[in-house]
Amino acid sequence: MDWMKEFGEIFTIKLFNSNMIIISSPAAIKDLLDIRGALTGGRPKSHMQRAAQGLHFVLEDLENPIWKRGRKAITRFLTTDNLNVYMATQKVEYVQMLNDILTQPDEIYNHIRRTSASVMTSIVYGKKCLTFKNSSAEEYFEGIKLFNETNDPGAYPPIELLPWLRYVPRWLAPWTEHIERTTRVRNRLYYGLLAEFEEKKKAGNAEACYISYVLESREKLGMSYDEVVFLGGVLMDAGGETASSYIQSFVLAMLNFPDAQRKAQEEIDAMIGDSRFPSFEDYKNLPYLRALVDEIHRYRPILPIGLPRIATQDLLYKDYILPKGSMLVLNAWGLFHDPELFDAPDVFRPERFLESKYGTKPGVNIESFRNNFAFGAGRRICPGEEMGRRTIAMNTMNMLWAFTFTPKEGGISNMDMNSYSVVCTLRLVFFSRACLTSSSKPGLEMAPKPFSCNIVPRVKARAELIRAEFEAIAACGSE
Ligand code: HEM
Repeated sequence: MDWMKEFGEIFTIKLFNSNMIIISSPAAIKDLLDIRGALTGGRPKSHMQRAAQGLHFVLEDLENPIWKRGRKAITRFLTTDNLNVYMATQKVEYVQMLNDILTQPDEIYNHIRRTSASVMTSIVYGKKCLTFKNSSAEEYFEGIKLFNETNDPGAYPPIELLPWLRYVPRWLAPWTEHIERTTRVRNRLYYGLLAEFEEKKKAGNAEACYISYVLESREKLGMSYDEVVFLGGVLMDAGGETASSYIQSFVLAMLNFPDAQRKAQEEIDAMIGDSRFPSFEDYKNLPYLRALVDEIHRYRPILPIGLPRIATQDLLYKDYILPKGSMLVLNAWGLFHDPELFDAPDVFRPERFLESKYGTKPGVNIESFRNNFAFGAGRRICPGEEMGRRTIAMNTMNMLWAFTFTPKEGGISNMDMNSYSVVCTLRLVFFSRACLTSSSKPGLEMAPKPFSCNIVPRVKARAELIRAEFEAIAACGSE
């Protein structure tokens, strides 16, 4: 934030012989990343990521056929019709999560992880994760952790900037072993999930799921088998941890801001009552809850610097030259915490989103604003925004309808930077000195570290409804 104040809406950080350009104003984002998105849609070539991630289309440039095919196939996954179909699967998972929290409240952190991973494995591969431990959900989060560590520039030397490092002997290159381990864990999961589906299909007992459609349309989509494997991987990577991080952040916000929790609960109680679960249709009629959700996106954005881009041509913005090949960073964190745009940006106050469309303070020019900076920009904007929003809507309604969250004596429930895993570059670039000395772990996402809290069911009838619904689902599953 201090750097932004000093250097303005756009500034450059020199890293060896390359430029990292930080873009922090709505006008610059609109011009450079939205309108000129065809020239700013490349991705940086990270040796560590590429080696650890295989044919992941998110790492490819716009011109690359792997990106084109992957993006097309993913768009097919995320049509509104499909999202409506997936909602049935999601609801089953959300009932299990409520029941899990009811029965083992101390395990909430992993219940949230299980749920978000299981939604993705169910929809993509037709495979549910009934538990967190010893399931694909646990394996998935292990892979994410290892992968995030490959993004930690403090831990390993910048191989793309010093290419000769690729040739140093193995015993001098501890990152080689890390990459191999990451690849091993992730390949075992993603090749394994696909192989398991194919075996079930052969045996005639596969569930209907997205990967079945992709395999059937593989020729038409022009995808290799490995691309299909990593398409599943992209969906898991992009849809699993984001949902989990948001819901965990939401619980932390409830622990830290009890007034906001109470107001949202009152609104939900007036609308929904005790005899039914919240439904997706309720969400549009809950203005305070929607403001609360927006405030969490603003206060603790899941991807505070999005996913970095590359300028594929020299560009001019005002009197600022962005040389071809520069890394471009959409600084959502800086934008959301800019005191020129948001009144007291470090204060958590959902009401700001009831007072103005984007939560901005009076007099701010909102011409270049939109309500989805948290989902990126231009041609690479998150294709899963609607799915992410639905997930968040359902979980926030459900959890506040069912439970009250309060801090536990001696428990961990802070919402400061030490409570999150954040990538080191981000800490170095944006956060205060205090954060530099924090014990944060690497990761592109602001993922909360494990926390603990008291969770109390709010109404007996609601708890009974959860149990009954969960038993009915479990009975169906065992038939
Ligand atoms: C709250 C949830 C989510 C948030 C905040 C979020 C945010 C983002 C952001 C900031 C980007 C980078 C965009 C850019 O480069 O400008 C991104 C990319 C992406 N997201 Fe999401 N996302 C969420 C959920 C999802 C879901 C549920 C899916 C799919 C199931 C998904 C799929 C993707 C994919 C495939 C990309 C890469 C796009 C590309 O490189 O072309 N996301 N997301």
